[in-house]
Amino acid sequence: MAHNKPIDVHLRLWSDDDLPLLMRLMGDPAMTAYLGGPESAEKIRERHQGYCHNSVEEKDPIFAIIVEPEGIAVGSIGYWEKAWFDETVWETGWSVLPEFQGYGIATKAAALIVERARLEKKFRFLHAFPSFDNAASNAICRKSGFLLRGMFNFEYPPGNLMCCNDWSFDLFADEPRIA
Ligand SMILES: CC(C)(COP(=O)(O)OP(=O)(O)OC[C@H]1O[C@@H](n2cnc3c(N)ncnc32)[C@H](O)[C@@H]1OP(=O)(O)O)[C@@H](O)C(=O)NCCC(=O)NCCS
Repeated sequence: MAHNKPIDVHLRLWSDDDLPLLMRLMGDPAMTAYLGGPESAEKIRERHQGYCHNSVEEKDPIFAIIVEPEGIAVGSIGYWEKAWFDETVWETGWSVLPEFQGYGIATKAAALIVERARLEKKFRFLHAFPSFDNAASNAICRKSGFLLRGMFNFEYPPGNLMCCNDWSFDLFADEPRIA
């Protein structure tokens, strides 16, 4: 992507038209190297239906990441409820298509998600759990003001053990901690 101007990023609730985008995000070995590997077309269709359902229900929203002025959907991001130790928190996760990576798009989308989750005033903490060796994803957490809490092993998807960093953002703090 050739760009001289700053890239404007906004979020749009996941919609019926986003299935081809999700096929690329979740069906590609490189895109899912830190996510347990590519999903089958059937699993991706199921995931897509779930995302669309969430948009209708206005619960645990998933968004397409849109870049302007082109107005094209280049990735996904969202936040959803998760039981974490003895509390309920928000969890977030992000993906950007390879040809749009390295332009700060995921970092901008993460900032928008922090603001949306903050406005919910529902749970205090927003967590992200990138694989410990996912340099780009860990960089987004660090730059976005998340604090590193520790490292945990997750089985995701079933049968695949992942070693992940636990980052959290305090949504009830007065000031965002952006590095
Ligand atoms: C992680 C991902 C969303 C980053 O998207 P992006 O739009 O390229 O991210 P940004 O441009 O905002 O870059 C974020 C930071 O990561 C760094 N970065 C990007 N790619 C990198 C790489 N391959 N290795 C090391 N750092 C990298 C950038 O330099 C930037 O840090 P900086 O501003 O300090 O230089 C994208 O690589 C992706 O979709 N990966 C596959 C899916 C995935 O692993 N998602 C994470 C699940 S938790």
